[in-house]
Amino acid sequence: MSDTLNVVVLVGSLRKESYTRRLAQALIKLAPATLKMEIVPIGELPLYNQDLESDAPPPPWRAFRDRVRPADGALFATPEYNRALPAVLKNAIDVGSRPYGKSVWSGKPAAIVSNSPGMIGGFGANHQLRQSLVFLDMPILQQPEAYIGGSDKLFDERGEFVNPTTRDLCTRLVTTFEAWIRATRKPK
Ligand code: FNR
Repeated sequence: MSDTLNVVVLVGSLRKESYTRRLAQALIKLAPATLKMEIVPIGELPLYNQDLESDAPPPPWRAFRDRVRPADGALFATPEYNRALPAVLKNAIDVGSRPYGKSVWSGKPAAIVSNSPGMIGGFGANHQLRQSLVFLDMPILQQPEAYIGGSDKLFDERGEFVNPTTRDLCTRLVTTFEAWIRATRKPK
């Protein structure tokens, strides 16, 4: 039970000062030593176009698929754009899901954290994302749900959580996710 699990982290914002990325980095720091989490860049992936699906797809698609495929789990950290998930994150999900029958997501345990400076914490994006992950046959962590509001005020100047309750929720999310991956992952 002590083997290290590798988790890819997808961040649904390209903004330099993104709150979502900061939150993802905080989750990475809180993760148990046996959960190695790494952000996989998605900003340079060409927009999904089925016409480009061939024996030689765009190199960034290939590199992304090769990076995600062997991972034991995937954590999706997303802001909310117009009550939905941002296009850049949906694009990465679409790229990983093809070619048909070769999805890198299939069977891979997943967790979602959404956030927003507003009160609702990206609830709409969280559940829209969940809908796609169900279709992609990813066992998704049910609890704790993580809709983090006030994302612009989460950290102090040292980068520590201001609110211990939020820190506890984030710790619970990563520790439960590790147990979830061990319980649901398919044998390699
Ligand atoms: C937003 N924002 C936003 N916030 C929210 O709670 N619900 C929403 O539906 C939207 N819609 C929305 C659309 C677009 C196009 C933008 C640019 C922004 C605000 C959003 O939560 C805020 O900009 C966050 O700071 C974005 O996350 P990052 O970039 O800080 O990670």
